[in-house]
Amino acid sequence: MMRWAACALLVMASMFGCGLVAAAEQEQPSAAQMMDDLMYGHGPIGGPFALTDQNGKPRSDIEFRGKLMIVYFGYTFCPDVCPADLMSIGQALEALGPAAEGVQPVFITIDPERDTKVLAEYLAAFHPSFVGLTGSPEDIRKVANSYKAFYVKAPGERSGEYSIDHTGVIYLMGRGGEYLGFMPPQTSPDRLTEVLRKNLAR
Ligand code: NI
Repeated sequence: MMRWAACALLVMASMFGCGLVAAAEQEQPSAAQMMDDLMYGHGPIGGPFALTDQNGKPRSDIEFRGKLMIVYFGYTFCPDVCPADLMSIGQALEALGPAAEGVQPVFITIDPERDTKVLAEYLAAFHPSFVGLTGSPEDIRKVANSYKAFYVKAPGERSGEYSIDHTGVIYLMGRGGEYLGFMPPQTSPDRLTEVLRKNLAR
């Protein structure tokens, strides 16, 4: 467990990188604070949300009760970490076979400005059961804060361009919406399958 935690810490610390400077402009705790709270389980993790899915339909956390819920915060322009993790999630669900019915993968965009029409096609490439959620920047920030998920825009080389530094962990929520734990970025599909199987059997 400790080795695992240390690994996640390292990956997250490197991911936050230069985003720290702009953190003060956002209505969120510092990256370090969020990471500490998540790592050491300070305060509740997760909570209610009411957002809009990739088909324009309003969705809330309540409707996923009875299923395990995977929650991932990311954005479609993310060059590497998001696609790798989403691919792992998709592969783990494939590996579960029919049991995957008991798992709802949820992707919440932290880039609602750019993740509009592209969201549906993007997620379908990873797994058909993905629900992609978007909303107002304020609503998304609120949900991310409840999950202790940090994110901040990092300006790109050309004016108007940006990337987003963000927490890339994979959250696992229980059938009653309760927080079960998180898996670090770049968790292998095999490991993910194992964790899901174990929790599905409970
Ligand atoms: Ni990403």
